Amino acid sequence: MNLKSLLLTSLVAGAAVGDSSSNVPSSCTIKPNTTATQQSDLDKYSGCETVVGNLTVSGSEIQTGALNGVKNLEGSLTIYNASNLVQFNADNLQNISHSLNLQLSTSLETASFNGLEEVDTIKMVALPKLRDFETNVKKANVVYISDTSLKTVHAFEELQKVRSFNLNNNKDLGNLESALESVEDGLEFSANGQDANVTFNDLKWANNITLRDVHRASFVSLKEVNSSLGFINNTIDSLNLSNLTSVGGSLSFVSNPNLTNINATNLQEVGGGFVIANNTRLFKVGGFPKLSKVGGAVSVVGNFSYLDLDSLNSVKGGGDFETHSGNFSCSSLKSLQSKGGIKGDSFICKNGAQSTSIKMSSKSSSGGKSSSKTESKSKSGDKSNKDKNSSDKFTRSASGSQSGGDSGSKSTASNDGDQSKGMAAAQFAPAGSLTGALAVLAAFFL
Ligand SMILES: *[C@@H]1O[C@H](CO)[C@@H](O)[C@H](O)[C@H]1NC(C)=O
Ligand SMILES: *[C@@H]1O[C@H](CO)[C@@H](O)[C@H](O)[C@H]1NC(C)=O
Ligand SMILES: *[C@@H]1O[C@H](CO)[C@@H](O)[C@H](O)[C@H]1NC(C)=O
Ligand SMILES: *[C@@H]1O[C@H](CO)[C@@H](O)[C@H](O)[C@H]1NC(C)=O
Ligand SMILES: *[C@@H]1O[C@H](CO)[C@@H](O)[C@H](O)[C@H]1NC(C)=O
Ligand SMILES: *[C@@H]1O[C@H](CO)[C@@H](O)[C@H](O)[C@H]1NC(C)=O
Ligand SMILES: *[C@@H]1O[C@H](CO)[C@@H](O)[C@H](O)[C@H]1NC(C)=O
Ligand SMILES: *[C@@H]1O[C@H](CO)[C@@H](O)[C@H](O)[C@H]1NC(C)=O
Ligand SMILES: *[C@@H]1O[C@H](CO)[C@@H](O)[C@H](O)[C@H]1NC(C)=O
Ligand SMILES: *[C@@H]1O[C@H](CO)[C@@H](O)[C@H](O)[C@H]1NC(C)=O
Ligand SMILES: *[C@@H]1O[C@H](CO)[C@@H](O)[C@H](O)[C@H]1NC(C)=O
Ligand SMILES: *[C@@H]1O[C@H](CO)[C@@H](O)[C@H](O)[C@H]1NC(C)=O
Repeated sequence: MNLKSLLLTSLVAGAAVGDSSSNVPSSCTIKPNTTATQQSDLDKYSGCETVVGNLTVSGSEIQTGALNGVKNLEGSLTIYNASNLVQFNADNLQNISHSLNLQLSTSLETASFNGLEEVDTIKMVALPKLRDFETNVKKANVVYISDTSLKTVHAFEELQKVRSFNLNNNKDLGNLESALESVEDGLEFSANGQDANVTFNDLKWANNITLRDVHRASFVSLKEVNSSLGFINNTIDSLNLSNLTSVGGSLSFVSNPNLTNINATNLQEVGGGFVIANNTRLFKVGGFPKLSKVGGAVSVVGNFSYLDLDSLNSVKGGGDFETHSGNFSCSSLKSLQSKGGIKGDSFICKNGAQSTSIKMSSKSSSGGKSSSKTESKSKSGDKSNKDKNSSDKFTRSASGSQSGGDSGSKSTASNDGDQSKGMAAAQFAPAGSLTGALAVLAAFFL
């Protein structure tokens, strides 16, 4: 850097000092939008225990970078588009008050923050060569790691509490052992290594959890999910959720072709929709012996010959039970429905041999509702409909989301006799539209 920028640094720095850290010398205050493009820019701070400001490392010049000496950064550290940066370390850094952002640095292989204990947000995106990220963070609010080459993540072994934890599209990531005990907002693990095994054995509660493309998952302590819990498109064969007692929103198991066993022995209540669909090898659904209340609709679709929902006595939405197996008897579900245990307008129970489809008259569907595709689509997104009968809406939006073809124009027909067909088609649609229908379900019942 030249004299001019140096002068500017001290000028702006001088102006910036005074609020949070009056004891930080101006030489340790970073002027706004400072970009370090070479090691010497970083060395300026080596005498600073605390640095105030936001530091960005960028440019094609820097190949290895180190932030030495600095223990506290009151601001953010961003590595962005440092195209030739292979290695970066800041092992003295203990505390970053805002974010650690590592983004779009396509040569970065190693990032080392061994001393880091506390940071608000860790965001790592588009680091296709990053295979080594070292830290041992104890406190963080947000962790988001996407599109890296990390094989394992050992970085969070002491992290017990976060607001949000999201690892996605890290194609080599095969193992995650997490010490998390609670997740205030979302936990998501998706599209990582093909046979990824994840262990969240200390996790007691989370607001919502979504797991996709996982081979093995363990949640032995999980007791409560405040909002939704979904297992979608995994190769998991068995799921032990035996400590789970309640799910506040929707609970879904969708498109897990290897799943043969679900154990949710202590689950009593699902606040939203309850969906088990397209788990082709799930022949026995016996894992929900205590489930008594479902706040939304229940949909169990697949190849099951055994379905034990014996404690179920209150379903606010509709019921859709469809199996290809001819050995399944609908009688107990029919009896639950006739006793008023399934309150929604739509009830379907079908097995490979016979079919029962009861559609009670419903004001909203007989009142000349949408027959055009666009209309029924806009309806599924229309929040103002939220207070109307929910099962009817699920029915319609499920059939509305099926093919995107002429399903809309048939929706009048499907409002009477053809109901079960519409549902079945929607449920057996490819994963994409299935999840679409799920999202709609979740949106309505959350
Ligand atoms: C810093 O950069 C941001 C966006 O790049 C810009 O909006 C802002 O005005 C800059 N601030 C200063 C002090 O230059
Ligand atoms: C650092 O950036 C954040 C936003 O990213 C801003 O809120 C904060 O004021 C900046 N801090 C300094 C010291 O410039
Ligand atoms: C990244 O930096 C290069 C120069 O090194 C520049 O040409 C390119 O536009 C930058 N890309 C982004 C997305 O900022
Ligand atoms: C880290 O920084 C935050 C915010 O500046 C502060 O509250 C906290 O005490 C610091 N922690 C350590 C270990 O210095
Ligand atoms: C995950 O566990 C299975 C055994 O269940 C093992 O075969 C596989 O290699 C593990 N995956 C990884 C990435 O270690
Ligand atoms: C988690 O649940 C909250 C509502 O409680 C919602 O706003 C948020 O979008 C959900 N996140 C995910 C990833 O589903
Ligand atoms: C499951 O819950 C029971 C009762 O709440 C508790 O004693 C047990 O330790 C929990 N198991 C695990 C693995 O957390
Ligand atoms: C979620 O449930 C847990 C366990 O019951 C509770 O401690 C926590 O406050 C709840 N969180 C939210 C956001 O409701
Ligand atoms: C389902 O998982 C497979 C790999 O197991 C993946 O290739 C595919 O894209 C996933 N599909 C969806 C809809 O997520
Ligand atoms: C899942 O099941 C398929 C057969 O449907 C089998 O080929 C595959 O090996 C299984 N995958 C895993 C990871 O167990
Ligand atoms: C479910 O898990 C519990 C606790 O691990 C176990 O005692 C029970 O036998 C399991 N039930 C089934 C049907 O697998
Ligand atoms: C069920 O899931 C499998 C793979 O996960 C997928 O290939 C298939 O298209 C899905 N079947 C239906 C009918 O949705």
